[in-house]
Amino acid sequence: MDWGMKNRLSRILQPESGRTVMLAVDHGYFLGPTSGLEKPGETIAPLLPYADSLMLTRGVLRNCVPPETKTPIVLRISGGTSILKDLSGEGLTVSMDDAVRLNVSAITLSIFVGADGERETLLSLAEAVDWGETYGFPVLAVTAVGKDMVRDARYLGLACRIAAELGAHMVKTYFCDGFENIVRDTPVPLVVAGGKKVPEKDALQMAWNAINAGARGVDMGRNIFQSDCPSGMIQAVRGVVHNNMAVKEAFQLYRDIKG
Ligand code: R5P
Repeated sequence: MDWGMKNRLSRILQPESGRTVMLAVDHGYFLGPTSGLEKPGETIAPLLPYADSLMLTRGVLRNCVPPETKTPIVLRISGGTSILKDLSGEGLTVSMDDAVRLNVSAITLSIFVGADGERETLLSLAEAVDWGETYGFPVLAVTAVGKDMVRDARYLGLACRIAAELGAHMVKTYFCDGFENIVRDTPVPLVVAGGKKVPEKDALQMAWNAINAGARGVDMGRNIFQSDCPSGMIQAVRGVVHNNMAVKEAFQLYRDIKG
């Protein structure tokens, strides 16, 4: 791995803890104006100081994030589908030239293992890895789960391993029972998505479970920006991820900040 790749990876996985709190705000690329992200700039601004990186599309980056930001950007480069039709047929939506122009720290795309779009999305991952290796950009593969798939360790482990075998430098997946087996079988760092909004304490428990099973962090969206106190929630998640806080302690931090 060359210097540029290592440097960019160290902006995502914090060298002090080896872990990361990524803020995912890319939902609009297939969901449109997601609840909590109607005005992305207003949602993102107060959370930027607490996010190790921001995962989003180039449209929101250019229009809603000040170029002075110091927060590393993880740019979504896949899309082309909407919630109104089959999601699995994603293709690449951003050229590497534009990713370089936007000065991003990593690129990310979804793979749909077991769905109609399996072949196309896995080949897109391989293409993105070729770009990433050429220009020194880490690639985060997102294991999207088709509607016919079960979010269990067998399926997610298969998808994560394939992503790593194709060269992804990090993989984002969902937490599930047996997560430690997915960690064992995936030779690159894993981060977990938050999933649908659940009560704050439950989301913190999920983050704690994932970290303690070997996840290197979270790439969390709705459980932060749909919280009644997004700033308190992201700081509590940081406590779990970076400071090994117990769930009770982290939940109290969220409540204290919420006031
Ligand atoms: C889904 O593919 C998107 O990339 C989201 O970024 C991802 O689902 C994480 O967000 P959430 O924590 O809301 O699930």
